[in-house]
Amino acid sequence: MTKNKDDILALLQSPPMAFPVDNPYPAYQQLRERTPVYRISPMQWIITQYEDAVAILKHPDISHWGQDPQTQSMMFSEQGQMSKTLYAYAPDSNTPYRKKVLHALAAKNMKIEVEAMHQQASRVVERLRGRDQIEFMADFAHPFTFDTISRIIGVPKEKVEALSDIVGALLQSGGYSQYITYHPESGDGSAFINFLRALVAEKRARPDNDLCSALIEACTDGEDESFILSLVVFLFYAGHENMMKFLGNAVIALQSHEAVQDTLRKDPRLASSGVDELLRYDSPVQFLLMFAKERVQVGEAKIPSGSMLLVCVGAANRDPKIFSNPDQIDLQRRPAHLSFGAGPYRCIGAGLAQLQAGVGLGKFISATKAYNIERNKIQWKSIPYMLRGPSAFPMTMAWNHDFQPA
Ligand code: HEM
Repeated sequence: MTKNKDDILALLQSPPMAFPVDNPYPAYQQLRERTPVYRISPMQWIITQYEDAVAILKHPDISHWGQDPQTQSMMFSEQGQMSKTLYAYAPDSNTPYRKKVLHALAAKNMKIEVEAMHQQASRVVERLRGRDQIEFMADFAHPFTFDTISRIIGVPKEKVEALSDIVGALLQSGGYSQYITYHPESGDGSAFINFLRALVAEKRARPDNDLCSALIEACTDGEDESFILSLVVFLFYAGHENMMKFLGNAVIALQSHEAVQDTLRKDPRLASSGVDELLRYDSPVQFLLMFAKERVQVGEAKIPSGSMLLVCVGAANRDPKIFSNPDQIDLQRRPAHLSFGAGPYRCIGAGLAQLQAGVGLGKFISATKAYNIERNKIQWKSIPYMLRGPSAFPMTMAWNHDFQPA
């Protein structure tokens, strides 16, 4: 068994097989048709067919990276902060953190949340409507999605805008992930961490009905501050970056699907029922990283114990055996896509994400008559074998002046 942190870093830094970041789908298709269970190195496999992907996500002898004690010790030479944070949210870790967050999410009044999402989307659109050109990610995707995740986590309303500016700058310089491994002794005094430290202190003193308070309540075992901060950062990371990337991917995809765009413009409510199809078509999460705890069979391949399985969600979501005309967006489809994971590894914020995505997309499209994106100006952000989506792109706007923000 050779899997450890260095193997993972080597894999991510010099991917043995690279997929074009602007459009990986033709390469996925080739792989899926030729070698659906593809061995990229003696202990690393790429899985591209939908049925194999689902079987792996539900297989008792296969686990998620860092999500049970065995894969933890395979992956990480030491119990670092990143490893502890992933473990805290793991389905099979038997720790209270994931459960508390799930309960706190379930206790949210989604009617109120949806109302607040509509208001924020309208505010953001109103601010943009005089401009011929916008940068979609910073001008719409960020302020719209950040408002929801901040409220859910428990940032006081009057402080959301200040934190949004801090995070906007953070996203330009590497994003959240650097802070999941945050250690207080590093002396890092970033504005973001200072803000969260004050938030945690405030919630300790006055707990409320929010995710930050739920996490603090779960920490009954003398957990140190850096651990709690990492858990909160992880929630921002999971709930904000993926949402932004979903919206970016969706408006880029709709540019080449004008009929679908027009349908959404005529009836923006269809955005909510179409979210899953847009997630299937282009997911921010492109791969799920799994480990074989025992020798397993996937398709024809016998996979040795200790192997790393790179489950390609992007390829599985366009498997023609499951989805007819997979390269087309069909808003009538109700696809069982894998963009939120599956089985025990399903995203815990999926319900919230679906609501938010529908409101944001519906509002944005109905506020426009048309828009234009030059594909060669899109800046892509990709973490090989994990995430893919735009980080910035200019959009030329024709606004719909009859649009009435609700
Ligand atoms: C379109 C938006 C989103 C997508 C595509 C997405 C996708 C995913 C996926 C695929 C996973 C499993 C990751 C893995 O096992 O490697 C995951 C986990 C997670 N998601 Fe989401 N997510 C989204 C939005 C959200 C939101 C809004 C929240 C807010 C609460 C959230 C919170 C989480 C958390 C805490 C986990 C970790 C749980 C675990 O590791 O099993 N996500 N998400």
